[in-house]
Amino acid sequence: MEKNRRFLRFYDKNEYEELVPESDEKKKRPFPLFQKAYDEKKPLIDLIPPEKFGIGKKSFLDVINRRMSRRNYTEGSLTLEELSFLLWCTQGVKRTFKDIAGVLRTVPSAGAKSPFETYLIINRVEGVEPGLYRYISFSHKLLFVKSIEDAERKIGELTYDQMFVGKGAVIFCWVAIPYRTEWRYTILAHKFIAVDLGHVSENLYLACEAIDLGTVAIGYYEQKKFDALLELDGKDEFVVLVAPVGKRTIN
Ligand SMILES: Cc1cc2nc3c(=O)[nH]c(=O)nc-3n(C[C@H](O)[C@H](O)[C@H](O)COP(=O)(O)O)c2cc1C
Repeated sequence: MEKNRRFLRFYDKNEYEELVPESDEKKKRPFPLFQKAYDEKKPLIDLIPPEKFGIGKKSFLDVINRRMSRRNYTEGSLTLEELSFLLWCTQGVKRTFKDIAGVLRTVPSAGAKSPFETYLIINRVEGVEPGLYRYISFSHKLLFVKSIEDAERKIGELTYDQMFVGKGAVIFCWVAIPYRTEWRYTILAHKFIAVDLGHVSENLYLACEAIDLGTVAIGYYEQKKFDALLELDGKDEFVVLVAPVGKRTIN
């Protein structure tokens, strides 16, 4: 327990010099990609750009006050605008740099390293075939990865029989790529990644509340099987949090 707690604490200056290894940044190693590479010949699905959103106009205080974990979803589908809104609010890219290691998004991230990719298991979004997708945040588009047979049951089982998770119209799966943050912060990176993830997840909660959708963060899932489903190696890339999103009866 003590050992695991260590990662939540920072380092004093002398500890830092003794214990924190020299970073790849200091060693002048090239900076990592801030968006996972993909086959650019594959077609992408256009999302609605943020300047065209006609939704999400509720008062900020109302959204904060009403936020809660919601685990009951109707059979309703999300519109493409709703999905675009959620993706923009959680990982939308506001600015990229050619010669600076980082990317500015709608969520903060230590050193702007943004160590996540967003995968989506889509069950019901108007005009979008069900299946596994990845958010291509740099161009605000969706990449189809593969079909998933019997996704609802599979996702329920992969979350230790929390069967409501598979019933979401869309299941957000955040994947960490720790090296993006380790490149600069070495062993300090892991605390920062956890804090970064909280920002992303909270933005999903608030974005859902702003448009009358329901969500809940799911930290309890079968790591190896989930990584395998998303075709991740489980070492340099792995699932760190899951969140179903669905329509709800308004309350
Ligand atoms: C990191 C994290 C992991 C969680 N994992 C689960 C989970 O596996 N299953 C679940 O039903 N709720 C999960 N929750 C939701 C919490 O149970 C919920 O936030 C808490 O009970 C407070 O309720 P509220 O969100 O409605 O305020 C998780 C929340 C967080 C932040």
